[in-house]
Amino acid sequence: MSVSNPPQTPLARLDSFNAQALEGGGADRIKKQHEGGKLTARERIDLLLDPGTFLELDRFVTHRATDFGMADQKFLGDGVVTGHGLVDGRKVFVFAQDFTVFGGSLSGAYAQKICKVMDLALKVGAPVIGLNDSGGARIQEGVESLAGYAEIFLRNTLASGCIPQISAIMGPCAGGAVYSPAITDFILMVEGTSYMFITGPEVIKAVTHEEVTKEDLGGASAHASKSGVCHLTSPDDKTCIAQVREMLSYMPSNNQEDPPFKATQDPPLREVPELDTMIPAESNRPYDVKDVVRAVVDDGHLFEIAEAYAANIVVGFARIGGKAIGVVANQPQVLAGVLDIDASMKAARFVRFCDCFNIPLVTFVDVPGFLPGTAQEYGGIIKHGAKLLFAFAEATVPKVTVVLRKAYGGAYDVMASKHIRADMNFAFPTAEIAVMGAEGAVNIIRKSEIAKAADPNKTRSEFVADYKEKFASPYKAAELGFIDEVIYPRTLRARLHRSLELLKDKRDTNPPKKHTNIPL
Ligand code: HXC
Repeated sequence: MSVSNPPQTPLARLDSFNAQALEGGGADRIKKQHEGGKLTARERIDLLLDPGTFLELDRFVTHRATDFGMADQKFLGDGVVTGHGLVDGRKVFVFAQDFTVFGGSLSGAYAQKICKVMDLALKVGAPVIGLNDSGGARIQEGVESLAGYAEIFLRNTLASGCIPQISAIMGPCAGGAVYSPAITDFILMVEGTSYMFITGPEVIKAVTHEEVTKEDLGGASAHASKSGVCHLTSPDDKTCIAQVREMLSYMPSNNQEDPPFKATQDPPLREVPELDTMIPAESNRPYDVKDVVRAVVDDGHLFEIAEAYAANIVVGFARIGGKAIGVVANQPQVLAGVLDIDASMKAARFVRFCDCFNIPLVTFVDVPGFLPGTAQEYGGIIKHGAKLLFAFAEATVPKVTVVLRKAYGGAYDVMASKHIRADMNFAFPTAEIAVMGAEGAVNIIRKSEIAKAADPNKTRSEFVADYKEKFASPYKAAELGFIDEVIYPRTLRARLHRSLELLKDKRDTNPPKKHTNIPL
């Protein structure tokens, strides 16, 4: 459908244009969108924003293309709905790509609409939410479309760290179009209807002879579990948008503000008696660190990010005493909680997000070290592990750390230790803060004595017991002041709350510079 001849009275003319704009690509295409299990751009915006708060911009923008018969095919709004409104009473900017118009593909004019809301968002300090559903660059426009993408990428980059940017992928997202979401802070995908890739299955087949389906290549589950590109998945559009709303509730509107307060009935100084026995006495016995986290945060609620990727580390948002925190926790239940490439990258990115947006970090440590092996070394564990170290070290938000059990070797340093500017470092009595586990340590430093012993096994056991007594406890670190307090586990929630209250006005800075050079 193209813009039809409007009636002549001014109000009737406006009515007519408005009605045409609201139709998007027309009833048939809207029906197809619904049949595919997807909502329209406008329905999605209605779900995202507080009722009645959406104010649209650029509703009557059209494209400027003339080739391929495009001069006769114009749709008011040109395939993207843009504007602003409120989420939980707070300002946000939004763009929602409309697949019913040219498959949501991006023209020069369409890109300008997105750039306009991004520019406004940066000026007023409010998040940008992108609801993506697009066939990529509008093929009929060529370089004008590519230029439009680049203008968006530039704004994504300049806004990074100033305002939160969230991308919901709710349909195709192909080619260079994936790079705008990739620069934003979080990516959410809808299962079964959304996919992201640089080149699709056909191109892959032609170039590498590899056969793969769209879903396996770039569906929600592939990106949530294999590539780590996607941070949250959901079964449908409605749930995806609810996740965006909840995610926003943990963030300030911009880097100059603090996250919003959410009142709770959960007493901040509540004792948690079950914590006294939650950490197994045997240092190799697995347990779910999320049980520990849930036991201490408000109402037991952890909003986990990237749950299916690098599950050996847990990251997510929660609150203590109504205030948002970023949780980073080694997960002894998966790979014994070891740090590997994927876990380091996942946690580093999360730590940096929290630091950008004034969200205090609470770190739960139970880590046997970095994962050994050629796959990790050749994969660059040195530079990737350094990302997490760098992220924790440069972070100036309040940092509170609790060592639950193991804190071995370099991983002890990395996991928000005192030495890299954590403000409060607690340990459970079960903590073992050492260069390595007692068995490994004894096998190295007592090797010749064990070999010469009449009963090597007995001698080794004695050395292990001795090493454990000396080093596999929190007390050596406490003696040195590296641990501020060895706490009764049941008091952890209260300790965290009081620490966060103490640190709420913390000010710390890094030396002036253009920007850091984090190992990439
Ligand atoms: C113009 C497009 C379009 C595009 C889809 N359409 N993609 N129009 N430019 N990029 C139109 C179709 O012609 C069709 O119009 C309508 O949208 C719906 O598309 P269908 O193919 O019928 O839908 P579906 O079967 O659901 O398939 C969706 C799709 C497919 C997978 C997205 O359309 C597709 O592969 N499109 C091309 C994807 C692509 O290669 N994009 C360029 C990537 S390169 P009618 O009128 O028939 O309904 C890129 C470079 C950016 O983006 C670089 C930035 C740095």
